[in-house]
Amino acid sequence: MSDHIAIIEEQGVMEIHIDRPDKKNALTGAMYRTMTAALADASMRADIGAVLIAGRGDAFCAGNDLQDFLAGPEGGAAAFAFIRAIATFDKPLVAAVQGLAVGVGTTMLFHCDLIYAAPDARFVMPFVNLGLVPEAGSSLLAPAILGHARAAAMLLLGEPMDADSAARAGMVTAIVPADALLDQARAKAAALMAKPPRALAATRRLMKGDPAALVARIEEEAQLFREAMASPEAREAFTAFFEKRPPVFARS
Ligand code: COA
Repeated sequence: MSDHIAIIEEQGVMEIHIDRPDKKNALTGAMYRTMTAALADASMRADIGAVLIAGRGDAFCAGNDLQDFLAGPEGGAAAFAFIRAIATFDKPLVAAVQGLAVGVGTTMLFHCDLIYAAPDARFVMPFVNLGLVPEAGSSLLAPAILGHARAAAMLLLGEPMDADSAARAGMVTAIVPADALLDQARAKAAALMAKPPRALAATRRLMKGDPAALVARIEEEAQLFREAMASPEAREAFTAFFEKRPPVFARS
């Protein structure tokens, strides 16, 4: 269990708070494992009706911990277990997003149902810039949600998307002032809890459709991601980040 994940339960809603603000809530293997266990627990328990995901501090989540990436494949395995868990999770997921949502900080949101964002929210999927490929089904879900052209700006160019554009593109449910963000997400999670549970579960299942294609894409991405992680391009990108310099990629 990780100290950097806080789990709170409030009247049938499990809240998962990413709590590593000094590292912009970057996720380590231990943090992924704690979140995966929390989702498994929430799925099993009849008294939990919805899960709310939030980040403490000024950023929602700066993505995978790049130090963990450098350390070896163990963190990667924990990340993929979390991705599989959130992609196949069977209860409504609500997210409250402020500041930066980078990498998996954005891609996990594609699996959430209600996403509330503060005006300063900024969504970035810089996989290509890091010598990596998209994960968490984002190569399928980003074009489906945003349209290919907007997804290409994010996935091929690595350009950020601000809260306004994300709301217009259908990536977030609503923009909420920062000081009301968590309360709004909590109120909506509580509203879900008050719905008839069977009808709610069936409706969500119908909206999500057959998960087979998504799960297959997640596996395909994971294979390519593992290969890319060991590449000289990724090593250079990670090393450059910690050396606080621009990366230099060889062309041959
Ligand atoms: N992994 C590990 N450490 C990270 C991190 C990550 N993904 N993101 C941020 N941090 C750390 C920084 O190294 C820094 O640590 P330090 O104080 O010990 O030097 C601290 O968090 C604060 O980050 P900093 O870069 O100083 O803040 P910023 O506001 O200037 O920039 C980001 C914030 C998120 C834009 C920048 O940190 C960043 O680009 N992080 C990497 C994001 C990323 O590529 N994630 C992986 C996607 S697959």
